[in-house]
Amino acid sequence: MDKKNRNALIAGNWKMNMLASQVPAYWQGLEPGAKLGEGVSSALCVPFPLIPAVKAALAGSQVKVGAQDVSSHDKGAYTGEVSAAMLADLGVDYCIIGHSERRAYHAESDELVNEKLKALLGAGITPIMCCGESLEQRDAGVTLSFVESQIKGGLAGISAEDMKKVVIAYEPIWAIGTGRTATAEQAQEVCGYIRGVLAGLYGQELAKGVQVLYGGSMNGKNAAELLAQPDIDGGLIGGASLKPEFADIIGAANEG
Ligand code: PGA
Repeated sequence: MDKKNRNALIAGNWKMNMLASQVPAYWQGLEPGAKLGEGVSSALCVPFPLIPAVKAALAGSQVKVGAQDVSSHDKGAYTGEVSAAMLADLGVDYCIIGHSERRAYHAESDELVNEKLKALLGAGITPIMCCGESLEQRDAGVTLSFVESQIKGGLAGISAEDMKKVVIAYEPIWAIGTGRTATAEQAQEVCGYIRGVLAGLYGQELAKGVQVLYGGSMNGKNAAELLAQPDIDGGLIGGASLKPEFADIIGAANEG
């Protein structure tokens, strides 16, 4: 199995943007271009309170709904938390975990990301597990070893069977929201390395089937070149997912 046999995934990450009342107009702008070609999937990962509105807007579309975080706990006295079962009950298909903004602002560790990943798998939701280095780490030449430690920490104790249901997103922190996209070569280098780490953990065959996404200032203009790389199977898109431009990225995947 190689890239031809892996589906592409174009996932939007709205972060803390948009209002439920704005969703119908947003979808009106995006919908005409959001037709998915064969082997292409797409999801919008949105703030918790917007999930029902987005789910309603996307009814009849192949674009799925995702969340941006989940509690590691099943239920109980965890004020402010949202469980994987609650997300599944709302029809959520994907959930981002370990985004660098949560690692930075909420001190999320690889251990916590690992617990969240297990909670999502238990609820039948596809985790999109993020990893990626800071500019200081890149300049210090530790990008690959750091990303490897995030991957191994996040996937600790995950069986091969479960690994088949996990999506990895490589997002260099210096490229997020900065307009400074990683070059296709830089993104490919790390995504290829991640696949190698997965091969070491789970064997070549399984690693060849895992979707590895790139994220960080991906847009309608640079998507085609990034998606053409042998180990980049899609994108996790922040800023550009808030605009009709998101459809151009889906279009690039359709043609890939
Ligand atoms: P960006 O965000 O596309 O705005 O750089 C990507 C992300 O953080 O997922």
